[in-house]
Amino acid sequence: MLGLFDSGLGGLTVVRRVRSLLPTADLVFFADQAHVPYGNRSPEDLRGLLRHNLRWLDEQNVDAIVMGCNTSCAIADRYGWPATRAVVLDLIDSAAIAVERAGYRRIGVVATAATASSGAYGRKIRARVPGASVVEVAAPELVPLVEAGRVEGEEPRAAVRRACEGLPRDLDAVVLACTHYPILDAHFAAALGAGTARLDPAVVQAERAVLLADELRFGTGSGLARYVTNADADAFRANVVRIIGDPDPRVERLARQPIRT
Ligand code: DGL
Repeated sequence: MLGLFDSGLGGLTVVRRVRSLLPTADLVFFADQAHVPYGNRSPEDLRGLLRHNLRWLDEQNVDAIVMGCNTSCAIADRYGWPATRAVVLDLIDSAAIAVERAGYRRIGVVATAATASSGAYGRKIRARVPGASVVEVAAPELVPLVEAGRVEGEEPRAAVRRACEGLPRDLDAVVLACTHYPILDAHFAAALGAGTARLDPAVVQAERAVLLADELRFGTGSGLARYVTNADADAFRANVVRIIGDPDPRVERLARQPIRT
């Protein structure tokens, strides 16, 4: 079984890609919406949340953890991965693989404040593409808009435009380096124009999940997907239906109190 987590709805953009390539794999997705947004939290908070989420997924007996949260990968890049029984697929590694494959050399990275300030994207991309130019900018306005469902119209369009203003003009590609951002992809397309590619790390992340499923032989199950939140389950269900397209998803509310941060 596959395990995924994120601070909230963003991880569903990774689940969507994984399910389209591995429709018969069982998976559990945890949205830590009691603590969203992660991007403005301290490194200490983020380390605690990462440890807690990996432990919870271990308790669900997952074989592999397909990371659905860039901010948590950035904190792991700085402090190391907490112990887990499962194999972990790092989302920033997938982004760097995608950049290398495409041959991009001038890259913009739009991310949460915690991810951008960590510099993890720059390090991982330059490790694969020596000499690449990587400019990382923070877009703290975007995750709250997505969580509130304010994803259409002038408000999100202007917020994305403001986020992209910090990027140089002549980029090969911009990485949507927070899993919430593909939900705003149309606004990124409008802000960046046709000459700049948009890169969603979840594409390569899902491909790597397929390889891992073959290797560890967990790809063939009943295709059951559990969607778990520690906040409002009805609102979460509506978003799972909208983002995943499953008309009757199995949604659960975690009874346990969120950890203090
Ligand atoms: N979606 C997450 C990420 O990829 C976290 C966003 C947040 O909660 O700030 O970084």
